[in-house]
Amino acid sequence: MIRFTQVSKSFGTRCVLQDLDLEIRKGELTFIIGKSGEGKSVTIKHMMGLLKPDSGQIYVEDTDITQLDDAALQQVRKKFGILFQHAALFDSMTVEENIQFPLREHTNLTEAQIDHRVSEVLDQVDLPHSHKKYPDALSTGEKKRVGLARALAAKPQILLYDEPTTGMDPLISEMIDELIVRVNQMEKDITSIVISHDLKAALATADRIIMLYQGRVELAGPPSVFTKAASPVVRQFFSGSVEGPMEFL
Ligand SMILES: Nc1ncnc2c1ncn2[C@@H]1O[C@H](COP(=O)(O)OP(=O)(O)OP(=O)(O)O)[C@@H](O)[C@H]1O
Ligand SMILES: [Mg+2]
Repeated sequence: MIRFTQVSKSFGTRCVLQDLDLEIRKGELTFIIGKSGEGKSVTIKHMMGLLKPDSGQIYVEDTDITQLDDAALQQVRKKFGILFQHAALFDSMTVEENIQFPLREHTNLTEAQIDHRVSEVLDQVDLPHSHKKYPDALSTGEKKRVGLARALAAKPQILLYDEPTTGMDPLISEMIDELIVRVNQMEKDITSIVISHDLKAALATADRIIMLYQGRVELAGPPSVFTKAASPVVRQFFSGSVEGPMEFL
């Protein structure tokens, strides 16, 4: 679904991505992990064409998006749905209005079709009776689910989650993790990409995990590859130890 070949990106003298090769497979749930500052967010911004690499190619399906102009990039971005860390709902709009908003902006659906889609996605995230509530009246977990419903509404082919559970209590985190898996199974062709520090969730739920280190992929594969990994960097990351090859600022 997405392929980076030899992608490099520097900010000033800081080289964040260095000849990065990576592959996200269609229909899979992929976790991108790595310590803070390793370039996870920079990587997903490249996927959507929000950042341009200094060199290398980025294919979304069969299109090298590094060659596209702004109008063509806008079309590519319609393939993506994003769930931001803080759900980013509009507080002055009801749940229903929050979800309608991108549908009115980015699709040609009629009002009746929009209403139908809003109910459908609210069902999918287990919030069937929340149309008229305001974000203030929702718990953190509920806000997150509305954010997910909104990301799903326009039927994206690729769902990006940037740190979906960071800073949440363990029970809510687990509920969100389950929902991510459920959505990936329910929408058979959807490709889900989760950026996360949550190794437990990655090991428990990912089809594939990609670990970034020093601008490259340190290791990629199913969770079993990670639990058996010999790489000192991977082992250090999983043990959470300060002792090892990985340097913390
Ligand atoms: N627009 C920018 N201009 C300059 N430097 C940037 C920019 N965006 C990111 N960086 C730098 O690139 C590096 C990687 O940043 P990135 O946000 O991708 O890290 P991350 O892996 O997502 O970290 P975290 O886990 O803390 O979110 C950091 O050193 C950051 O300061
Ligand atoms: Mg980040």
